[in-house]
Formats: sequence, structure tokens, C-alpha cells
Amino acid sequence: MKKITIIGTGYVGLVTGAGLADFGNYVTCVDIKESKINLLKSGTIPIHEPGLEKLIQYNVREKRLFFTTDIGKSISQAEVIFIAVGTPESENGEANIDFVKQVAKTIGENLNIYKVICTKSTVPIGTGKIICSIIEANNIRNINFDYVSNPEFLREGSAVKDFLLPDRVVIGAVNKKAFKILKEVYRPLYINETPMLHTNIETAEMIKYASNSFLALKISYINEIANLCEIVGADVHLVAKAMGKDGRISSKFLHPGPGFGGSCFPKDTRALASFAKKHETRVRLVEETIKVNNKQKDRMFIKLKKLLDYNIANKTIGVFGLSFKPNTDDIRESPSLSIIKAILKEGGIVNTYDPVINDEIKKIYPTLNSFHSWEECSKDVDAIVIMTDWNVFRGIDLKKLNSLMKTPIILDTRNILSVEKLNEFGFSYDNVGRVDIN
Ligand code: UGA
Repeated sequence: MKKITIIGTGYVGLVTGAGLADFGNYVTCVDIKESKINLLKSGTIPIHEPGLEKLIQYNVREKRLFFTTDIGKSISQAEVIFIAVGTPESENGEANIDFVKQVAKTIGENLNIYKVICTKSTVPIGTGKIICSIIEANNIRNINFDYVSNPEFLREGSAVKDFLLPDRVVIGAVNKKAFKILKEVYRPLYINETPMLHTNIETAEMIKYASNSFLALKISYINEIANLCEIVGADVHLVAKAMGKDGRISSKFLHPGPGFGGSCFPKDTRALASFAKKHETRVRLVEETIKVNNKQKDRMFIKLKKLLDYNIANKTIGVFGLSFKPNTDDIRESPSLSIIKAILKEGGIVNTYDPVINDEIKKIYPTLNSFHSWEECSKDVDAIVIMTDWNVFRGIDLKKLNSLMKTPIILDTRNILSVEKLNEFGFSYDNVGRVDIN
């Protein structure tokens, strides 16, 4: 079992740290933010991620997981170092790797014995080489090291499960020695026969962007098919279901909705498109995916307006769900934010309810009304828009909902309500590409 240091305690760093400790390694998670480290030491985690708090607490108790702000010491004592700091988007759409570069410099300055340096952060293709040269430039004692690119494929909301049971592990390593060390780090997965792909560094970096962009493309594709279904009277769920039965297509990521959001797909598709342009080529399908997604978000507002006879001013709209997907408190590029902005811009009044995000939303939109239950949020509203497919909305009591609202109008952008039931309880409604087949 290896001594590992993870630099960066965002959701990737924390899940990786807790997961690798659970695999039996000795893991130190390091961050420059003292308040965050103190919180983690006390057993509290700063994000909403199912199963993570338990996994962290268990591994801390087993003395395999530690938290510190002492980056120099944690680098010196590690055999393997994972870089898991943020790569925010820069103005030209590319990922900004300043934090990664800073960490590479610190690693170089603190190298004392041979180590494997491994990047988890999503970085533009070619960054591995930059990291190696920065480490080299600061490696005054001339210590030997190897570099590995090990992209993550975790989904927020199911990151713990994804880490413990991945479809594959990609290890972009320049030599067999580094690959073997990484295999040791992931030993329980290796003995479980999880596919471990040994690639070069650029291939591993590319796999991350190619995977995320393809999934984003798949979503935009089904959204466009859904829009066409609406025109011709076809049901997109049955279309997607039948398509998904074809093993070459697969049923995953064929769920239509209000457009993808989050911290990954929007940012990574833009990064890949601008990376290609920088290299004087184009990934046109990815460029179109971005455009289709922006249009899809706008389309949701147009649907709402139509349901309200194109009159939003002074209407009160209840927005169910703020996070970009269920089981997370992440609102980055959430379709909810786009529709709230559009409603407010046209003079509408917004009520919100989300199972984990409460008054924090008022920091972005101070004029909206945030409620702690769907019942309060629905009182006397002119319409409800379901923006996130939290379970609580799937099983909502439509009779009660109708009795609370001023007018029974629903826009179900996640297609989670039964069309039959909406008809039964007298709602005017719209969704994304569904028809009443009964
Ligand atoms: C995504 C990838 O799925 C992970 O493999 C990857 O590791 C991660 O990005 C990352 O790069 O860190 P995540 O953004 O957490 O994960 O969430 P997803 O479940 O992929 O959902 C992204 C967005 O697509 C959400 O807004 C979701 O509602 C939407 N979506 C997803 C659909 O509209 N339809 C679908 O069929 C699936």
C-alpha cells in the first residue's frame, strides 16, 4: 500500500482521497484553505455528496486518511502525489492551469526521493509536458520522478460509487514503472478485473475531453430529437428506449431535459472547441453541441411563456430544483439559473425550492423568494417549473399541488411527471418531447 498525497480538496480531491484510503492506502489530503481543512478534521464535509462523509469518517477512524495545510511536508513524505486542484475557465474558453502550475512548482521544490506525480485535474492536452518541465526546473536536487495522467470520470451525486466501481481506469504513463505503481494504488480494482488502460500522457488527457464531449453531444442529440418529436407527435422516451436497446448506442445519457449544466460538460466542451481552434482545426460537432445546449436552455423559457400566454410580468413562478442535477448542491451552469434570470428579466416573481439549496440562492438573485418545502413554494403561484429531477418531485402529490396553486400550470423540463396523471388532475402542462399515448 502506498503513501499518497492529494493536493486540492474539491470534490475530485476529496472523493479520490477517501476512495484511495478505502483501498488501503495512507492518504493525506492537503489544501491551502485552513478553514476547510479544520472543517474536514472535525469530520464535516463542505459539499453535498452522498456517501462521502461516511467514507471519510471511516477512513479517518482507521488512521488511513489525514488532512493538513502543510504542503511541503505532505509532498516530502509521499510516494505518489495527485494534483486535484481546480482548472477554471479562462476568458477564451480554455481551461486555466495557473493553480496546476503553482502546485507543480511546489512539488519540484520539495522533491526529496523518487515519486510518481499524477494529475487528476482536467487539463488541456499537452499540460503533462508543461507540468514535467516546471517540476524539472524547480528540482534543484535533481531527484528522479515519473509523471502520470490519470483522469477522473466521477459524476457529482454518485461520485463515491463511481470511484469505488469504475468502468475503467486510464493511466497515461511514460514508462512501465509508473504504470505498475499506479496499479498498486488501485490494487482492489485491479484484482477485481476493472479494465486498466495504459496510454501515453497525451492520450489520457484526450480521453477525458473526448469522453465528456461525447456524452454532452449525446444529450444535445436527444434534446434535438425531443424537439422534433414535439412537432410530429412522437414520444421521445419511447424513441430513446428503443434506440438504447441497440448495444452500439446504449441507453445511457439519452434522457432529454433542459440542457446539460454543471462544472464539467459546459466547460469541457468549450475547452475542447477552443483547444482545437488554437491548433487550427475544428471539432464542429462539439461546437454545435454547445450551441444546441444554449438553445435548449432558452427553449425552456419559451415553453413557460407559451403556457402563460406570453405574459410573464407580475406572474409568480415556482421553480422546483436549483442544482444542475439531483443529489448535489452544485448550481454551476445549472439550467435553473438561466430560467430564473429570464423570468426576473421579464418582470416575473420567482419562488424557489430545492431539497439542499436554500437561502444561498439569494446571493445570486436577491429578489427571489426561497422556501424550505415544495408546498410553501407552490402557494398561490401562477405556474410551476420542474428544473431538477430530485426524487421528491417525482412522487409529488399532484392533487395537493393543484389545490395550492393559483392556476394549475406545470412545465416539467425533466419529464418526471406522468402525463396521464397531469391530465387526471386538470393541469395545463408541457414537457420535453412527450405525448400522451393513452
Ligand atoms: C460528468 C461526467 O458524467 C463524468 O463522467 C465526469 O467525470 C464529470 O462530468 C467531470 O468531468 O468531472 P457530472 O457533470 O457530475 O459528470 O454529471 P452528469 O451526470 O454527467 O450530468 C451532467 C449534466 O447532463 C446534468 O445537467 C444532467 O442533468 C445532464 N444530463 C445527463 C441530461 O440532461 N441527460 C442525460 O441523459 C444525462
